[in-house]
Amino acid sequence: MIVAIDGPAGAGKSSIARQVANELKFDFLDTGALYRAATLGVIRAQVEFDDTQALIEVVRGIDLQWDGETILLSGEDVSNEIRSPTVTDAIRYLADEPAIRSQLSAQQRRIAEGRDIVTEGRDQGAEVFPEAECKIFLTASPEERARRRREQLTSTGRHMSFDQVLAAQNKRDREDESRAVGRLRAAEDAVILQTDAMTPEEVLAWVLTHVRSAI
Ligand code: C5P
Repeated sequence: MIVAIDGPAGAGKSSIARQVANELKFDFLDTGALYRAATLGVIRAQVEFDDTQALIEVVRGIDLQWDGETILLSGEDVSNEIRSPTVTDAIRYLADEPAIRSQLSAQQRRIAEGRDIVTEGRDQGAEVFPEAECKIFLTASPEERARRRREQLTSTGRHMSFDQVLAAQNKRDREDESRAVGRLRAAEDAVILQTDAMTPEEVLAWVLTHVRSAI
């Protein structure tokens, strides 16, 4: 069974998807981590981001492994490094390129093959797993997502103003919603959950109930 959870940055997809997978004893796939690790690989290969052909070549040769929790680039655990602003700012060069999306989507399908899995990203329900039994589009207003993100940053000792967080997030939303292939959108058969007025516990309970009803 495939549970596909999509939504914009800061909607809480990762943490909800991970907890749902734990509860149901399903595997978990963070597809953003694949995009991030591929981007780190390109940065390390010192390829110019506007050289599309070189980008495609480098990503084709990259060794990415997802073990259900950790992302490995050529065998090295890069789970922390892929969260750096340098990586976040450069992802769009890869995410905008259909040939790279197609390669990473194929890898996502291979990872999910024959398993019960909760997968999260931007294009999971609409493009990568159109056959998923359960599709959820998790969202919240830009202000609420920025508020949560800022709280999370502060709790890890990083300080940014609300306006800075909101501006960076709006830029990512625009990029994610406007790409030609794999853009952020709810699949036609997805349920949309607007979480502004919900606590994380309420979101988890709602999603679990919904997924269990689809099993
Ligand atoms: O989910 P996360 O914020 O880690 O994703 C980082 C970026 O990777 C997104 O902003 C998006 O540009 C890209 N991405 C994507 N398709 C996915 C997952 C992530 O294009 N399925």
